[in-house]
Amino acid sequence: MKALVPAGGTGTRLRPLSYSLPKALIPVANKPVLQHILESIRDLGVTEIGVVAGHGDRDIAEAVGDGSRYGVELTWIRQDRPRGLAHCVRIARSYLGDSDFVMYLGDNMLPDGVGDIAAEFAATRPAAQLVVSRVPDPRAFGVAEVDGDGRVVRLAEKPARPRSDLALTGVYFFTPAIHRAVWSITPSARGELEITDAVQLLVDQGHDVRAVRYQGYWKDTGRAEDVLECNRHVLASLRPRITGDVGEECEVNGPAVIEEGAKVTRSRIVGPVVIGANAVVEDSHVGPNVCIAAGCTLRDVRLSDSLTLDGAVLSGVNDLHGSIIGRHATVVAPGRSTARHRLVVGDHTHIEVA
Ligand code: DAU
Repeated sequence: MKALVPAGGTGTRLRPLSYSLPKALIPVANKPVLQHILESIRDLGVTEIGVVAGHGDRDIAEAVGDGSRYGVELTWIRQDRPRGLAHCVRIARSYLGDSDFVMYLGDNMLPDGVGDIAAEFAATRPAAQLVVSRVPDPRAFGVAEVDGDGRVVRLAEKPARPRSDLALTGVYFFTPAIHRAVWSITPSARGELEITDAVQLLVDQGHDVRAVRYQGYWKDTGRAEDVLECNRHVLASLRPRITGDVGEECEVNGPAVIEEGAKVTRSRIVGPVVIGANAVVEDSHVGPNVCIAAGCTLRDVRLSDSLTLDGAVLSGVNDLHGSIIGRHATVVAPGRSTARHRLVVGDHTHIEVA
């Protein structure tokens, strides 16, 4: 089996971060979403992975390299612009050959893994096997109607009036039967070649299309609040490891990872917290649910439920919550702010808060 990871797209719902950072590289627990995905695919025993990228492909390639450090072999498939998930399958045809494959969307997190579902697919080999999850409001997703035997009878992409509460997560298992289907559909109303339409065609043609309900945690990290929620979930099972320098006058409660070269001085850390390599934290209260990426500087800051990306600088901001601060962005409060702030700040931005 091979894997296909569509990791292009423009990430409009994650602006301003996604203007300069492809959304596949947004960090969860200080690791790009794409890295979580590659590791999850590797854990299925699948090591040949085609990554579709267009927007930000150079940054993505720089971040994950050839995949060897995660034990996988990456092949880059270039998409000129986001033309739809079925288009991703079309342009991956020669890479995929006649292999079965798992398509794992580059912004989807299923940290509990999909091993059982992959094994079921390998044993039964339906034309397509979709991983679905029950959600209270499925209007933002593909929606599956499924019969009592787990057979898909109908699919709809982001329907205004969903006919079931089963959302398509971003993980699909396919036999080569999908290739003919992706070439037989036309663009949807939003101008994309929808994978949902290609799978519906398989259903209409009488192929066996299955849906398996996912019992674990699933998050489409499309919006800032989704990234933060997913971060909280992943941090809940953080294994503490302190290799950085924590001064004696500091207090560390709850699980914390403090990486090599990080320096924490006169601060209170309330886990779960991750402090990346070479970060500097002084006179601050950090946590819970905070990830500080490599090379950040925090001085006189109170920060909870937030992410600061590589090289961000925060100073004098006394209550920052539910925030994502972009790479090398600066947030300062010259008069030492005490109000609670919630910010989503793009890379290299400079903000002064009152
Ligand atoms: O998250 C699950 C949902 O993902 C499913 O429920 C929907 O049925 C499915 O269509 C998809 O919907 P989204 O609107 O969330 O897809 P999005 O445009 O965000 O694309 C998902 C990933 O695929 C993202 O990492 C960008 C990448 N992509 C997307 C398109 C359309 C590409 O690489 N190329 C593309 O042409």
